[in-house]
Amino acid sequence: MMQAPKLIAGNWKMNGLAADLAEVSLLVDSLSKAAVNCRVALCPPSTLIARMAETADGSIVEIGGQDCSAEAKGAFTGDTSAAMLADAGATLVIVGHSERRQGHGEDDATVAAKAEAASKAGLAPIVCVGETLQQRETGQAVEVVRRQVMQSLPLALSGQSFAVAYEPVWAIGTGLTPTLAQIEEVHRAVRRAMIERLGLGVAVVPILYGGSVKPDNAAEILAVPEVGGALVGGASLKAADFLAIIRAA
Ligand code: PGA
Repeated sequence: MMQAPKLIAGNWKMNGLAADLAEVSLLVDSLSKAAVNCRVALCPPSTLIARMAETADGSIVEIGGQDCSAEAKGAFTGDTSAAMLADAGATLVIVGHSERRQGHGEDDATVAAKAEAASKAGLAPIVCVGETLQQRETGQAVEVVRRQVMQSLPLALSGQSFAVAYEPVWAIGTGLTPTLAQIEEVHRAVRRAMIERLGLGVAVVPILYGGSVKPDNAAEILAVPEVGGALVGGASLKAADFLAIIRAA
């Protein structure tokens, strides 16, 4: 089967002001000089989506949101709908990041509703799953992730463009990563659960790994079977680091 190009997506989290668009210009400039064999995306805070989309216009860099409302519109103060993200220039959106699941009480049903709303608005959701340290240490990682996949992927994603990101909570921002064998084990379980939930059509949907991906570990992680890309936090903020990861794909 033809392998889909890997997706290297940067998650800026709550970082970035207008001045930081200079890093995006640097990235776009470097990407225009030498071909890369992967897809590249950046997910800035929503205040920067429109300006970053302008900065990246004409380049291969796709723009994404970091979260969206499950609602289409209305009296939801402070929330942003998927259609608004698309209107600002986004083509992707992260949903169910562990910082949303833990910090904002989002459960699998909420994540599934957001993924469905995103897809309906024409965005490709990147649906995040991942176990906590306690779940890893008590041997529940595969089971927890499998359950999250089954319950966070709405059936409406069948035939639509989307990705899943496996991000162990304990690996995010800590410098810790699972072993390559552990990454492969969970990615294979994610693929099996996706197929069980949505059918064989999802065989080429990318499964990204996220959690302390850096220039010095990207190549080995991206070479693991079933790893279809990376979701990169801290190392996506500087063009040089992010480029090094892109070049490792
Ligand atoms: P990190 O974050 O690369 O800084 O660990 C990854 C993420 O949370 O998406």
